[in-house]
Amino acid sequence: MAILGFGKKNTINEDEQLKIPVSLGVIMDGNGRWAKKRMLPRSAGHRAGAENLKELCRNCGNYGVKYLTVYAFSTENWSRPTDEVNTLMDLFVEFWEKYDPELEQEGIRVRFTGDIDALPDRIKEVCKKGEERSKHRQKMQLIVAFNYGGRREIVHSCQNIARLVKEGKLNVEDISEETISDNLYLPDVPDPDLIIRPSGEQRLSNFLLWESAYSELWVSDCLWPDFGFDELTEAFRAYTNRDRRFGGLSKEDNK
Ligand code: FPP
Repeated sequence: MAILGFGKKNTINEDEQLKIPVSLGVIMDGNGRWAKKRMLPRSAGHRAGAENLKELCRNCGNYGVKYLTVYAFSTENWSRPTDEVNTLMDLFVEFWEKYDPELEQEGIRVRFTGDIDALPDRIKEVCKKGEERSKHRQKMQLIVAFNYGGRREIVHSCQNIARLVKEGKLNVEDISEETISDNLYLPDVPDPDLIIRPSGEQRLSNFLLWESAYSELWVSDCLWPDFGFDELTEAFRAYTNRDRRFGGLSKEDNK
């Protein structure tokens, strides 16, 4: 049996022939509950969550995922207590300082999606620098959804399209689904094949609403900071057995 090893705990069993999603979305939920279970402040949960994001990147890169989009801060998260919002902003800045050398070693390019223009200057600066210094990396793209909302993204796409119509560059009759996709924040990133949501909730919470039309969904009771290699492998195992019909018939029925 051929085993691809990267650490004792994280071994890919090559004989298993898992189907790996090209594009994967992860809703990193459950930091608060993880902390509460340990009688720690919520900030400790977010810190453990950030640490786990680094692990997820490594595991996804080694599995051969090409685009990993993670939900780190939603347009609705501003309604949390100021302390918690500040913790998440600080953690965001700290994350790149602390982990970018490791992401570089793994060949991981970083990009950001969301209403980035509306973020404080210090955060915008981090996004700009992070994208610039990693743009040559080839193994996998890590796309961090920060101040991201699926509905807001669709609104922004519509605004761009309306501008094109107003400037006489586009006819209303020519607006198609492709036009909307082309005007999303990162039009070159493929729609997610699979979306993973830890922590037991069974909803998208405004994550990649347009892009997830035909995504497979996989939920797990495991809280995000505990979501490791084994849980990721289990999700890929489930994905391998899914019959993706995209509204058509399965291969079996077409025979
Ligand atoms: C949801 O869990 C999680 C968030 C709102 C933040 C996600 C952020 C991280 C995992 C770390 C940040 C990483 C970077 C790069 C900034 P929750 O707090 O709603 O958990 P709960 O539902 O258990 O309360």
